[in-house]
Amino acid sequence: MKADQISQTAAFVAIKFYGLSRIERFQPLFDDSVVTFYEKLIRSLPAPLRYYHYWLDFDWVRRLYIWSEELLLPGDLLHIVARKWYIQRMAKQLVDEGYDQLIVLGAGFDHLSYHFTQHGIDCFEFDAPKMAALKRHFLSNCYPGQPHPDIITSHLPADDLKTEFSDHPRIDPSRKTIIVAEGFFDYLAPETVSRCLQQIRQYFSHNPALISTHFALNELPSFYRWVFKSSVKLVNEQLQFDRSIDSYKHLLSETEFEISQLHDAQEISTEIQKVTHTNLSVLDGFYVLLAHQQSE
Ligand SMILES: C[S@@+](CC[C@H](N)C(=O)[O-])C[C@H]1O[C@@H](n2cnc3c(N)ncnc32)[C@H](O)[C@@H]1O
Repeated sequence: MKADQISQTAAFVAIKFYGLSRIERFQPLFDDSVVTFYEKLIRSLPAPLRYYHYWLDFDWVRRLYIWSEELLLPGDLLHIVARKWYIQRMAKQLVDEGYDQLIVLGAGFDHLSYHFTQHGIDCFEFDAPKMAALKRHFLSNCYPGQPHPDIITSHLPADDLKTEFSDHPRIDPSRKTIIVAEGFFDYLAPETVSRCLQQIRQYFSHNPALISTHFALNELPSFYRWVFKSSVKLVNEQLQFDRSIDSYKHLLSETEFEISQLHDAQEISTEIQKVTHTNLSVLDGFYVLLAHQQSE
């Protein structure tokens, strides 16, 4: 992805969340403030992306959108709501255990750091320059007077994560830190992912917790794998971290991260269906995990 482009994949994560959050049965999963965040966000996107705010308010448009999405890549829509639901609950659990610094890598238009900033947690977001500028603009326009996360410009691999951590006056290596990589590593080359993980381990002294998503594209039937890759390519982005879950687990263990929770698509589908009674399912090959740096 180029440094000066708006990430359409990030925009569509937010648009899909917004669309599903218009449907009553998904609303109990999130506080009203989260639903409002995405509503304000979609309205503030550059045209034509912001037109989704108007159209997705109509039931018939949502039905058509869901039908076409499910035809092309079944499970893609629900996996968005599911990952935000899982990640927010996992982060909350860590905060309750005393983690008090949150860093979101490739944050895009995500609400998480804004949400935890309102709960007194020190939050930092990293993203490419254009995205960081859009997010800052959105927060200052739509949430003036509220505390905001620090938004740090970083374009990998040209920039160096460890240097950026240490150059920032408020990122404290000795605090219990949560690192979130939601839909982020997929867009980096394997060696860049490995370097990120090593640098997290080297910089934070107090066993950082990593919450990460993973797409094991090898678990998708070939047509859906092609749809996934092509839709990302179409918006000038590229899936580069095409690894099986075992290969990602191996990389985590090489960089001394130990997995304590691993949720797969089947488990996530079952859990979210119990709460929402939806008949949608979650994309095959999708995982959310929690890993901690192993103790010395
Ligand atoms: C699919 S979006 C996910 C956004 C957000 N984490 C979410 O799940 O809602 C990927 C994000 O990674 C960022 N990104 C992609 N490649 C990057 C790179 N090489 N350096 C920095 N950020 C990058 C994009 O700008 C975008 O915000």
